[in-house]
Amino acid sequence: MALITLAEILDCAEADGYAVGAFNVSDLNQAVAVLRAARAERSPVIVQVIAGMHPYDHEGWWWDRLRELVLSYPDVNAVLHLDHGRSFNDCARAIKHGFTGVMIDASRDIDTDNPATFDDNVALTRRVVSFAHERGVSVEGELGTIGGAEAGTNGIVEEIVFADPDQAAEFVAQTDVDALAIAVGTSHGSVKFTTSEQSRRLRIELIAKIRARIPGTHLVLHGSSSIPAESVRTINCFGGSLTESYGIGIEQKQQGIASGIRKINQGTDSHLAWTAALRETLGRDTVTVEPSTAIGASVRAMSNAVSLRMREFGSAGRI
Ligand code: 13P
Repeated sequence: MALITLAEILDCAEADGYAVGAFNVSDLNQAVAVLRAARAERSPVIVQVIAGMHPYDHEGWWWDRLRELVLSYPDVNAVLHLDHGRSFNDCARAIKHGFTGVMIDASRDIDTDNPATFDDNVALTRRVVSFAHERGVSVEGELGTIGGAEAGTNGIVEEIVFADPDQAAEFVAQTDVDALAIAVGTSHGSVKFTTSEQSRRLRIELIAKIRARIPGTHLVLHGSSSIPAESVRTINCFGGSLTESYGIGIEQKQQGIASGIRKINQGTDSHLAWTAALRETLGRDTVTVEPSTAIGASVRAMSNAVSLRMREFGSAGRI
């Protein structure tokens, strides 16, 4: 079996107490890096994309090719997932193109980016769930506001609004989502925290409380990249100007898994590995113009970064 639903992949993770990494990709080469890692690690994997983030002429063309690519790895149990769908239309389009999971992020108003009301979040999420479930597709919702440069939004979300256990129970009862992204202190993007102390402020006890209220719903951790200092150093060494930042430490993520997190979203770490390798290869070899060597180095670097996470999340060796 190659392409399975989000609910199916996370049910297996729940049964055996590990988390599945959800890795953002923005082109086919990045998807190869992720699928290659999954094959090498014998790990289930969630390949996810954000609407609008790709270099191709037509989104539908990209999504169809991505689905074909995933299907060409029949030995890998994979979910093709839409990350941070902001509208019913985003999710419906992804389902039409054969995605097996969609996230509807109705936690913030699509026009203002301000936190949405609970009732508005429920109404849009329920509409997507009804459409998706009729077509055998799983749905992830979001409660609370995760900080940072949240994908699909217009800017930086400064304030983290933590998820509330009572609201989570009410949200799941009213929407029937399969998975729920909960704001527990993580933050999206390459600039997360300015001190290592801040980066340890994940509210693990909140994960356990929410899980106790909604044991049948899979919990998702967004904004969980670790921001490896080595990648940042390499990028800056070869012309970049990233600010120093602390990400989420692996021990925090593992405590999250022990408390019930089953899906961990990572985009930035992969992109850092990719960009560091690209900059270094081009910086060291200043005469080659044929791009396959540089792109190949990026694919290998991203694949290694993803492999490492699969081992850390306990999903390696599960298929
Ligand atoms: P990072 O920016 O920490 O990788 O998080 C990505 C994410 O949560 C995508 O939904």
